[in-house]
Amino acid sequence: MRFDTTGKVSLDHIYTQPDPRAYFTTLRRLDYLIPQLAKPYFAKLIREYTATQAVPAPTVLDIGCSYGINAALLKCDATMDELYERYGDEDAAGLTREALLDRDVTFVRSRTRPDGIRVVGLDASEEALSYALSAGLLDRAVHADLEHNDPTEEQRALFARTDLVFSTGCLGYVTEKTIARIVGAAGERKPWMAHFVLRMFPFDPITETLAASGYETAEVAGVFKQRRFASAEEQTLVLDTLSSAGVDPHGLESDGWLYARLFISRPRGATDHPVTEAAARQDR
Ligand SMILES: C[S@@+](CC[C@H](N)C(=O)[O-])C[C@H]1O[C@@H](n2cnc3c(N)ncnc32)[C@H](O)[C@@H]1O
Repeated sequence: MRFDTTGKVSLDHIYTQPDPRAYFTTLRRLDYLIPQLAKPYFAKLIREYTATQAVPAPTVLDIGCSYGINAALLKCDATMDELYERYGDEDAAGLTREALLDRDVTFVRSRTRPDGIRVVGLDASEEALSYALSAGLLDRAVHADLEHNDPTEEQRALFARTDLVFSTGCLGYVTEKTIARIVGAAGERKPWMAHFVLRMFPFDPITETLAASGYETAEVAGVFKQRRFASAEEQTLVLDTLSSAGVDPHGLESDGWLYARLFISRPRGATDHPVTEAAARQDR
């Protein structure tokens, strides 16, 4: 098992496979469930945006979208359990990539509405984006690493048409540098944002970056299970990182799970509906 500098186990190899099978079979063993817990919050923010901004079918930018996981949950009303079964069962194991993709195209067509949201996926993995785009989970794909590069003109134009920006399991790999480049390209439109971020990663730099561009950020009360630790060694390393960050793991990470927090950022003055409480009631 290899670990990155934050102590988390390195799962980079599952992000760049030609199809999502390794992604789901590996993360299923770790009970990765943050997209499922995020779903009602994202859905509520979409409803709120639709109601207040008079945009009936908003465009969502999913940062670190991988194989279109949040898109599957939001556009197809899939669940993580359903996806784990779908990509991890014996039938899936025997299929070629093309056959798996055909099966997914049919699934996506049967579960999406023509007047529904559009999802643009941003990821550093060309393989994951290519699959998600071909399956129809993503409407557009942005293959970029905005930590190190400026967006192209075409990518800037896509960001400028974005209504909402979401992420799960990605901040940490991605920092305020990526967020600043997206906001810079979006200009006056100022997409609303919801980010789930592990407790080991400080969100303050993103809050400050967004504040400088006219946003206010609120943390939603509570914490959200992301996944189990892959090993006792990973847990020890992450507890060290939490300790250095001044975060108390007692009753949370010390008991075997990584936890995330949720931050919602909207342009100052945007209607302040209680997105969080209603979604929390559905979820807990
Ligand atoms: C743990 S996965 C999360 C995937 C998905 N959001 C979910 O929750 O299931 C992290 C994703 O971030 C992507 N990633 C890593 N570094 C990135 C970067 N600099 N820019 C964009 N995506 C990046 C990886 O390729 C991977 O798809």
